[in-house]
Amino acid sequence: QKIYLKDYTPPAYLVDSVELTFKLAPTTTRVLSRIAFRPNPDAQSRDFFLHGEQLKLISASIDGVSITPEVTATGLTHTVPNAPFVFEAEVEISPATNTALEGLYMSNGMYCTQCEAEGFRKITYYPDRPDVMSVFTVRIESDLPVLLSNGNPAAKGDGWAEWHDPWPKPAYLFALVGGDLVNHPDRFTTMSGKDVELNIWVRPGDDEQKCAFGMEALKKSMKWDEDVYGREYDLDIFNIVAVDDFNMGAMENKGLNIFNSSAVLASPETSTDANFERIEAIIAHEYFHNWTGNRITCRDWFQLCLKEGLTVFRDQQFTGDMRSHAVKRIDDVVVLRAHQFREDNGPLAHPVRPESFVEINNFYTVTVYEKGAEIIGMLKRLVGDEGYKNALDLYFDRHDGDAATIEDWLQVFEDATGRDLSQFAKWYSQAGTPRVSVTDSYADGTYSLTLSQQTPATPDQDKKTPMVIPVAVGLLNDNGDEIVPTRILELTEATQTFTFDGLASKPVPSILRGFSAPVILEHDQTNAERAFLLAHDTDPFNRWDAGRTLAQDVLLQMVREDATPDTAYLDGLLALLRDDNLDPAFRALALSLPSQDDTAQALVDAGETPDPTAIYRAHEALTLHIAQHLQDTLPRIYADMTVTGPYAPDAVSAGKRSLGNRMLSLMSKLDGGKQASQQYATADNMTQQLAALASLLKIGKGADELAAFEQRWHHDRLVMDKWFGLQVSCAAPEDAAKVAAKLTEHSAFTMKNPNRFRAVFGALKGNTAGFHDPSGASYDLLADWLIKLDALNPQTTARMSTSFDTWKRYDADRQTKMKAALQRIDKTPNLSRDTTEMVTRILG
Ligand code: ARG
Ligand code: ZN
Repeated sequence: QKIYLKDYTPPAYLVDSVELTFKLAPTTTRVLSRIAFRPNPDAQSRDFFLHGEQLKLISASIDGVSITPEVTATGLTHTVPNAPFVFEAEVEISPATNTALEGLYMSNGMYCTQCEAEGFRKITYYPDRPDVMSVFTVRIESDLPVLLSNGNPAAKGDGWAEWHDPWPKPAYLFALVGGDLVNHPDRFTTMSGKDVELNIWVRPGDDEQKCAFGMEALKKSMKWDEDVYGREYDLDIFNIVAVDDFNMGAMENKGLNIFNSSAVLASPETSTDANFERIEAIIAHEYFHNWTGNRITCRDWFQLCLKEGLTVFRDQQFTGDMRSHAVKRIDDVVVLRAHQFREDNGPLAHPVRPESFVEINNFYTVTVYEKGAEIIGMLKRLVGDEGYKNALDLYFDRHDGDAATIEDWLQVFEDATGRDLSQFAKWYSQAGTPRVSVTDSYADGTYSLTLSQQTPATPDQDKKTPMVIPVAVGLLNDNGDEIVPTRILELTEATQTFTFDGLASKPVPSILRGFSAPVILEHDQTNAERAFLLAHDTDPFNRWDAGRTLAQDVLLQMVREDATPDTAYLDGLLALLRDDNLDPAFRALALSLPSQDDTAQALVDAGETPDPTAIYRAHEALTLHIAQHLQDTLPRIYADMTVTGPYAPDAVSAGKRSLGNRMLSLMSKLDGGKQASQQYATADNMTQQLAALASLLKIGKGADELAAFEQRWHHDRLVMDKWFGLQVSCAAPEDAAKVAAKLTEHSAFTMKNPNRFRAVFGALKGNTAGFHDPSGASYDLLADWLIKLDALNPQTTARMSTSFDTWKRYDADRQTKMKAALQRIDKTPNLSRDTTEMVTRILG
């Protein structure tokens, strides 16, 4: 059933300490608990309830007296003393048959846990809610050589180990690992001179050679959090464990981060530049949670964005500092628009702080994470760097050790800066992407900019009211010189006019610089004005965005009337490509087109019904036009982007490879794949190898290379995920479902491994025209597999069901087919709560 934010009540009992003993066995693990409870003076009730699911209760006692509690499918109750008491229990669980990958489970012979959000209740009976924080002591008994838990090692002997975590924490941050593992060790000295032991743990074998990069990223993250936020690490040891079967990217368990192996293991031969960058960011993200998430946690799951939005914002700052702020901002906005805007403008739209949920795992969304991070960015823009720093210092000071709320967070900003944030707070409660439209005029040296805002209705929220929208604006003159540097306009009303005085002529405005707010800008500019900004804007984000908008307009025209692309656009691209002063990474981004899904949304915004096949054709045609228009320059730039010396994943080298590979994919449209075959044959790193293979597959070639790739990498799961995914994402639309179906018959396909399942079906969703092929074959195939997967892994099934969330955009025929697929999933007997909630919301 639905749980509401407004129904929050404090816990009836608090926990002073908890001692756990694990006797590990694949199907008969015993968990003994000793929990010291005390009545919560702030509670409104004295009802004693412990969460517990899929547990076999062996025995229980209160203050040493054996009891027989009342047990249901979701927990247990019993009468308890009106004073502090000790509850003890022994339960049995079966990690080896836990395919949901939540609670304690096994992955390749290794025991591991995932407790966020509500997985601890599958380990033992406990008040499994984040506002119950306690000190944990853990004993693990097993013959496995490596036994890990949170905090500091306390003692160990033959067949057992004990851990003590001095920092009170909620149960969702509990973790345990047991396995035959080897460590990649290192050390870090904190700013106050404390020596910390660091380890990345992997299974013996190839993975041992893939830890070095992650370890460097960890040390950089630790240093950065000290330098930028004044945050020091607070235990003697920090462990990271790589796990092959994992539902998400990684988890910030106190002192024992558990990672999807794809989010930590890297080597030049097996990982792409994008993999390296993602790994660095995720390691930073999980490490930063130690303060924003663990030391200060969330009062309840409605406050999830308190830790996730802030931690994403922090990892974005970190990546910008380590690499390039301009490129990072563009990358982040690409993701935001592609995924968060899609969510915010469809049936799954919800506020950054949701007001209700059925299954909290369904709310680990791009809205909570990425829009949550955008809100922090807007706050920082509004109060300034100094104000932000003061507010964060106050936040850590005031709330260390707390389970806090968004109100606490905003209060800190109000107290530190004196600013009233009552209207700004609406960013947390009002769903939907605001549209900001622009009109302007000029007279007698004064330029007037009129901004209007409007947010469309979203499920459960018909009426919207104006938000505080920081709009960064700069003005250029006709020569392309900046005459008014970036200024933040605060749009707080439905419509507002801002003026700029003392101008000699009508300026060209550059609006929403740096993407200063997560809104859709509706600004009727001519292609000439856009081309002008693409050539001259001093704000790198807006410069890129001018090119992107231009490309989108060209694509829309081509979809609508089979037109040939505007030469002003093609000439603009050529000038940009030839500008050797520009960062190669930036040029690569400027040369990439909006996604086909973005084009579909743009058509919806214009009141039209998108045809994925027509969009695909327009994208293909435009790519070919670009290749032809840039033809003479491609080989020169391709050669210039050669990186010599041994492979390194740094931003500069990666940027060069990125632009070089853009050239390659354009060249392959003209040379039949000659250059790509050659690059494939000579590449000494995965970035070059995979880009060459993709270029070949996209022109219908590369069968031999594909076979050779499999031959060479069949033993490496993470590389094979790429092999599976690439075939689906590069398939022609009419073949995509067939290719995906055939891959599910491959001996290395397994739906028990979320990475492998996502490799195939995530790629199918990403192949927009293939997913929406008029036959409906992809819809049916995905529905078949989601129905199968749901019985094993509800979380991943629910997440993947979002592939259908755009169904209402399309024509009647596609709508009917998608709706039928959704209804077929919905009618599956014993469908999980996770998937039921998602499918119901998508159907609307
Ligand atoms: N807190 C983790 C992170 O963002 C995500 C884990 C969420 N897991 C889940 N099953 N909902 O780093
Ligand atoms: Zn996180």
